[in-house]
Amino acid sequence: MKMALVGFGNVGKAVAQVMLEKKEVLQKIGFKPEVVAILEKDGSWIDEKGLKLQEILSLGKSSPAWKSNTVSKEIIPELDCELIVEMTVTNIEHGEPGLTHIREALNSGKDVVTSNKGPLVLAFPELMGIAEKKHRILLYEATVGGAIPLFHVAREALLINEIISITGILNGTSNYILTKMTEERISFNAALREAQERGYAEADPTYDIEGIDAAAKLVILANGILKMKRRFSDVQIQGITKVTPEMIELAMEDGYLVKHIGYVDRNRIEVMPRLIPQGSPLAVGGTLNVISFHTDVAEDITLIGRGAGPRETSSAILGDILYINKIRKSER
Ligand SMILES: NC(=O)c1ccc[n+]([C@@H]2O[C@H](COP(=O)([O-])OP(=O)(O)OC[C@H]3O[C@@H](n4cnc5c(N)ncnc54)[C@H](OP(=O)(O)O)[C@@H]3O)[C@@H](O)[C@H]2O)c1
Repeated sequence: MKMALVGFGNVGKAVAQVMLEKKEVLQKIGFKPEVVAILEKDGSWIDEKGLKLQEILSLGKSSPAWKSNTVSKEIIPELDCELIVEMTVTNIEHGEPGLTHIREALNSGKDVVTSNKGPLVLAFPELMGIAEKKHRILLYEATVGGAIPLFHVAREALLINEIISITGILNGTSNYILTKMTEERISFNAALREAQERGYAEADPTYDIEGIDAAAKLVILANGILKMKRRFSDVQIQGITKVTPEMIELAMEDGYLVKHIGYVDRNRIEVMPRLIPQGSPLAVGGTLNVISFHTDVAEDITLIGRGAGPRETSSAILGDILYINKIRKSER
């Protein structure tokens, strides 16, 4: 399968690295990835016969295949490939550059896999509409829950079920902070500082601690799984900045934990601190994410895993790539 990687940062490099590492596994399942282009903000590596990934990972922009000053959105429609893997930076205000990349890819007849939330939060119905019109597939497993294959489970394994509601912890940074406050009885600010020192929180942690990142993910879950047209402005959002050690203490005395919980059903879409019984499958600690589907046949199905990390995220991206390969192969 001929493909192009767009955005070669932490996640893009991890995807290339794992493809190399898993060469034999891929061969066994009859999948031959041929990366014909890697597009970056300031240039690209292009070779119609297939790029040498190992060389690019080790030489970077010193590789002979590197060309500077190219523009991704202009190259995407021209590329002779079947799949675009979009992994540029997330922006949930305007969705760019990913939104244009995905539109260009679908409109020029390519399937798309993305880890970028922004375009889906802003334009889910539009992008799915283009995909349908062009008979293309757009998959986005890595946008919610990092490595957790939640869309795959919902789409395939739970197909017979109606998914009635989705509950989960969708942001590892805020979960880490609440876990530290609970385990060490420290203040919000002290826990945030520790999260920043360990590299779990950004210098500006607003998106994580104010619930913006989790709300964006709820919008993707609402559209992608519950098939409801929900926008970011529909989400009722409350962050974790007002949670105090005293609240956590009181909750614990009654057998509960304070967790930052995202919830979506037909009537409600919200993220806020909530009390979760100790020992509940939702009571995961540290940076872990958890997603629980409430369904009409299977009842509750809960998935736990790493919500971030480039290598972990590459598992979800490669899962999507292999799924598309399977579908396209079955059509031939
Ligand atoms: N890291 C994770 O654990 C994780 C988990 C789940 C989802 N995601 C999502 O996956 C995406 C990538 O994450 P990341 O951690 O790899 O971020 P990153 O390291 O910042 O990589 C993004 C890359 O995209 C490049 N880029 C920016 N504008 C571009 C353009 N117009 N054309 C081509 N490339 C462009 C950036 O180049 P410059 O550096 O030159 O700007 C950078 O190399 C994000 O949307 C993120 O939200 C990440």
